[in-house]
Amino acid sequence: MKHKPIFTNCKSMLHGGDYNPDQWIQMPEIWNEDMCLMKLAKCNAMSIGIFAWSALEPEEGKFEFGWLDTIMDKLAENNAYAILATPSGSKPAWLSQKYPESCRVNADKTRQPHGARHNHCRTSPAYREKCITINTKLAERYKDHPALIMWHVSNEYNGNDCHCDLCYDAFQKWLKKRYNNDIDQLNAAYWTSFWSHTFPDWDYIEPTDSSIHGLMLDWKRFKTAQTIDFFKAESTPLRQITPHIPITTNFMTQSDTLDYWAFSRAVDVVSWDSYPRWHETESDSLEATRIAFHHDICRTMKDGKPWMLMESVPSIPTRGCIKKVKEPGMHLLSSIQAIAHGSDTVQYFQWRKSRGGTEKFHGAVVDHVGHENTRVFKEVSEVGNVLSKLDSVVGSCINTEVALIFDWENEWAINLGASVYLGKNTKYREECLQHYTPFWEKGIPMDVIAQTCDLTQYKLIIAPMVYMLRPGFADRLKDYIKAGGTAVMTYWSAVVDKSDLCFLGGIPGNDLKEVFGVWEEETQAYFPNEKISVKSNEKNSLGIKGQYDAIDICSIIHTDNAEVLCTYNDDFFAGQPAMIANNYGQGKAYYQACRMQPDFHSTFYNALIDSLNINQVIKTDLPEGVTAQLRTNDEQNFIFLMNFSKDEQAIFLPETYEDLLMQKPVSGKVSLPKYGVKILKSSAR
Ligand code: GAL
Repeated sequence: MKHKPIFTNCKSMLHGGDYNPDQWIQMPEIWNEDMCLMKLAKCNAMSIGIFAWSALEPEEGKFEFGWLDTIMDKLAENNAYAILATPSGSKPAWLSQKYPESCRVNADKTRQPHGARHNHCRTSPAYREKCITINTKLAERYKDHPALIMWHVSNEYNGNDCHCDLCYDAFQKWLKKRYNNDIDQLNAAYWTSFWSHTFPDWDYIEPTDSSIHGLMLDWKRFKTAQTIDFFKAESTPLRQITPHIPITTNFMTQSDTLDYWAFSRAVDVVSWDSYPRWHETESDSLEATRIAFHHDICRTMKDGKPWMLMESVPSIPTRGCIKKVKEPGMHLLSSIQAIAHGSDTVQYFQWRKSRGGTEKFHGAVVDHVGHENTRVFKEVSEVGNVLSKLDSVVGSCINTEVALIFDWENEWAINLGASVYLGKNTKYREECLQHYTPFWEKGIPMDVIAQTCDLTQYKLIIAPMVYMLRPGFADRLKDYIKAGGTAVMTYWSAVVDKSDLCFLGGIPGNDLKEVFGVWEEETQAYFPNEKISVKSNEKNSLGIKGQYDAIDICSIIHTDNAEVLCTYNDDFFAGQPAMIANNYGQGKAYYQACRMQPDFHSTFYNALIDSLNINQVIKTDLPEGVTAQLRTNDEQNFIFLMNFSKDEQAIFLPETYEDLLMQKPVSGKVSLPKYGVKILKSSAR
């Protein structure tokens, strides 16, 4: 894959964060202090104006750009860039008061009062108009400013509900288009004969009946579509006035309210806000895999183009629960983790702690104490130092041979439809992560893709719990396997179509029974203290040996011709298949009938990795908690060795590399301290 830098005018990694100079207008000496501190921390890019609407337009039509002019100039003088925000993430009070339609409406039809943030009605014409006005002013004023490198449109759009008449009207119009103006088509798709829910006409449709899954799915799709429409509307002046400046908006891929696969097509660059829970969960390496998974989604969304870590925290976020500070080393490690998975930036929330408001204790580069002599500031400076040595990595890509399918639409359908059956055991994301982890542990880069993405480039496709099939996916999967591809699918896949209507003729539907050689007859959920034993069949083609426990969910399956790799050992279905492999065309289709645990996944995927010749970044055994990821440009490979364990770990390097940070050759046994990181360079093969 070719070299794809985000910016044409900047050849360095960006380092910086959300900067709120508008909070310090009365103390301009702080601004000067900020500039000095930014230099010390080697910060070169600040996101500004994200929540500055009141400072920019204190009264309707009265604009004050003086303070922003000063900040933009100061950034440019200090060789720093501005990622300039549009302020729609938080409304000024005059706007909510004069245009109440800009405030969202609750399900009980009460309008939300002014306050908080991220709560504008995405349909309101008045709000759109006010956003377009301020965005036009910003674009006109700063279009030629040397500091301007990127637009940060709004902040963390979400898919939360607005039940106002404007939104309902827009929803009904959206439905008319989707169902070709034919209410019978909609009723058929929603199976509204159930409980006598038939809609006589479009204006009867309100997204409040959670018993109609197809309707609720469409409401979620509509909210994504309307959010993208809002984003496009407020971006219009930016596109017109500054066509040379790329546009992003910061995603929250860990949340499930918007379909980011759809949204990613509207932005120039994907960016996301990553808030890992270091030292607070079962293990940091587990947390690292969870975060790596999201980093990989962000990269895959733009076909491998580098993405931006737009927010991360230099110490701890304040989120109303017990929080741990980042232990020494973890800040560099987690920042480099983003780079290793394809980010070309390390940005923080926030540069300086505010004096008041709910985030006054939220981790920042500059603490209330105000100077640079803090542990956090030193660790941030260390990141700045390391990033300044990574110019050659900027724009480099990641080649992958394996992809895992994770899809928001499917997640919505699972949480609406499947969870009524599987309850708390549904755990779609956890299941995806279980299949991702063995590759992370072996140091095998992976793409995380949607059902709509191209499958043909991979040696292996993993499709956990693909409950809802998006149109065309089953055919593409079938063609991929027929042409020689290998796929793994699990229980409770291909159950429903895009409207959450069950396929007739058995699970998996849409011809996938034939492809995977399976019919899934019954599925049940287990209580937390229950397990079901699965044993490998002698002489199975993957060489899997021994017994394993499955948990949470288990399906009773049948096969005629597929090879049975493992069978159930317990219960009335003991002896029946639990895992099968079917030859289809030139390829192979594996079906897992129950929720297996890490020991099985590691054995199973190691066998597949060997049989498919899937390449590790370094051909060596990696100790627990250590991973290796690789970025490459046309000439060089960059290997990121990262230790998320609490112990020093030794790694054997089978070749000689250059240690990019130490600038010396390295080979044989190397040691990574607790939370240590190494960046190795070699020429691209
Ligand atoms: C993000 C948000 C920031 C800040 C941060 C605190 O979700 O975009 O503005 O609130 O959380 O963790």
